Amino acid sequence: MNKISFTPYTLGSLPLSNRIVMSPMTRSRAINNTPNQLMATYYEQRAEAGLIITEGVSPSPNGLGYARIPGLFSNKQVEGWKLTTQAVHSKGGKIFAQLMHTGRVGHALNLPTGARIVAPSAIAAKGQMWTDKEGMKDHPLPQELSGTELIDTKNEFVQAARNAILAGFDGIELHGANGYLLEQFLSPHSNIRTDIYGGSIENRSRFVLEVAKEVSAAIGKDKVGIRLSPFGIFNDMPDYPEVAATYTYLAEELNKIDIAYIHLVDHSSGGAPEVPLSIKQTIRKKFKNTLILSGGYTLARAEEDLSSDFADLIAFGKPFITNPDLVDRLQKNLSLNIKLDANTLYSADAKGYTDYPVYQNELINA
Ligand SMILES: Cc1cc2nc3c(=O)[nH]c(=O)nc-3n(C[C@H](O)[C@H](O)[C@H](O)COP(=O)(O)O)c2cc1C
Repeated sequence: MNKISFTPYTLGSLPLSNRIVMSPMTRSRAINNTPNQLMATYYEQRAEAGLIITEGVSPSPNGLGYARIPGLFSNKQVEGWKLTTQAVHSKGGKIFAQLMHTGRVGHALNLPTGARIVAPSAIAAKGQMWTDKEGMKDHPLPQELSGTELIDTKNEFVQAARNAILAGFDGIELHGANGYLLEQFLSPHSNIRTDIYGGSIENRSRFVLEVAKEVSAAIGKDKVGIRLSPFGIFNDMPDYPEVAATYTYLAEELNKIDIAYIHLVDHSSGGAPEVPLSIKQTIRKKFKNTLILSGGYTLARAEEDLSSDFADLIAFGKPFITNPDLVDRLQKNLSLNIKLDANTLYSADAKGYTDYPVYQNELINA
């Protein structure tokens, strides 16, 4: 019998050929923050996924905190992304752009001239990050967004979503996870604002919900998803007492906005604290549209969560890096390449990016 992972699914109004999603993964090949042919080739190789979610793409010059990540705020970037969307569509794939504003997780050395490290509050994240110019550097003290800058930042998300559609994407995913700008608003550790965007759960959630609402109004709610990482600690996001209550509220409000999906990530397979089952169940109950789960999935676990209706789609990350033909391999029960080269995850060229072989070639090369 065909496994449920390989059955079609309709996401919003978008038909997907299977339920396996390629997780968003930053790969730092966008020289000058502009998407290029190499990136188009990488995504085209993985177009068998029911849905590809791109690496984090910044809606603003201020959100380009990492070296060589792409943007979606200039004409050149829109033109560059067309290479990718056309390549993926030509293979019958579907692709959403993940809008990631890095906020305080960035460094001035990575930003273009005139851009600034901004955040809800002037609180630096602990830890360091890579810069091409000077190697590892401490996270800097961000500048607190003023009331008008906050509106400008929202507008950047809206314009980037419009640009995504112009570039041929099927939709966008808001990166509300992993300690970047949107999650920086959610957490009382990174948001100590005293205006309507800080303090209570409602206030800390306001920026995220307004962005979701305005982006939905601009491009259509069925083309909008959001990634969330409740209980995630990546990028200096410690636990706080109201985590469960915050994400319960978010799920209820996102349900009212009626966006296409919530994409929950659980980093416990990478050693982070486990996301309690109860919060996943609450989100599943409160949010009526599509739920994508991700983090450490195997086909067996995907089958379990799909067939028990705990999730609608399952996202795979690292397995897609090393197996461009992941869906084919899983479907035919072929062995997976598990040899991930950590040194080329964020390097600048084709090595460790577009040269992972498909199964047949692996046999030929053996
Ligand atoms: C190289 C790399 C880059 C990543 N970049 C992003 C990113 O840009 N946005 C995001 O939401 N998650 C990012 N992640 C997290 C993945 O989307 C995924 O949640 C994680 O790898 C766990 O799933 P897996 O066990 O299937 O790999 C990244 C992970 C890796 C390995």
